Amino acid sequence: MFTVSDYSVAYGQSEVVHNINMEVGKSEIVAIVGRNGMGKTTLMRSLIGMVPAKSGSAKLNNTELFGLKSHERVERGVAFVPQGRMIFSTMTVKENIETGLTTVKEKKVPENLYTLFPVLKEMKSRRGGNLSGGQQQQLAIARALASKPDLLLLDEPTEGIQPSIIREMARTLKKIRDEIGLSIIVSEQVLSFALDIADRILVIEKGKIVHEELRESANEEKIAAYLSV
Ligand SMILES: Nc1ncnc2c1ncn2[C@@H]1O[C@H](COP(=O)(O)OP(=O)(O)O)[C@@H](O)[C@H]1O
Ligand SMILES: [Mg+2]
Repeated sequence: MFTVSDYSVAYGQSEVVHNINMEVGKSEIVAIVGRNGMGKTTLMRSLIGMVPAKSGSAKLNNTELFGLKSHERVERGVAFVPQGRMIFSTMTVKENIETGLTTVKEKKVPENLYTLFPVLKEMKSRRGGNLSGGQQQQLAIARALASKPDLLLLDEPTEGIQPSIIREMARTLKKIRDEIGLSIIVSEQVLSFALDIADRILVIEKGKIVHEELRESANEEKIAAYLSV
């Protein structure tokens, strides 16, 4: 469904993502775990077209994304929830979600988004900046889902969010995956969340995938060792 091959990303002369190869199947959730500064955000921003890739290929449903602009990638079915969420704090919840509708025909927020995130319906007219961290994360996910993606990229979604809300987020994301057959790539430093949500776990170190395991047979201690400083 989504295939990344020999994929490298550089800032000027400095290459920080090196020759990544990965595949994500339909309805599969893949977690990329790694410590701070290992290249997770660079890879994610590159996959959505905010940072250009240096070389390689990223194909969604056999369509090459390399070189496409962000909005063209969204049109082809990729959606992105950035690290830090980046919702518009002076716009209302409803207006925030509507910014995700630019590539689809609908002008109104689809009701199923409010069914998935009831709190957003309650808070429809509140300003984004007045929501809690967990609510803002739901808003950022709802905005991303408004473009009806096949592939959702989530960059460190648990950052700054309470443990109980993190567990709820994992449940909601799996429910969305089951309901609409969404594929998800999530980058994380929190191993418990990655183990909770993922079907497969990749470890990134210094911009390279150094380890890969299926969730069901994952050696948790080994992965934890990669994440400890
Ligand atoms: N805009 C940038 N320009 C130059 N180097 C950057 C930039 N953003 C990140 N880096 C460097 O790239 C490496 C990977 O960073 P990043 O992708 O943010 O890692 P992570 O998300 O895993 O914490 C780090 O060494 C970081 O300093
Ligand atoms: Mg990051």
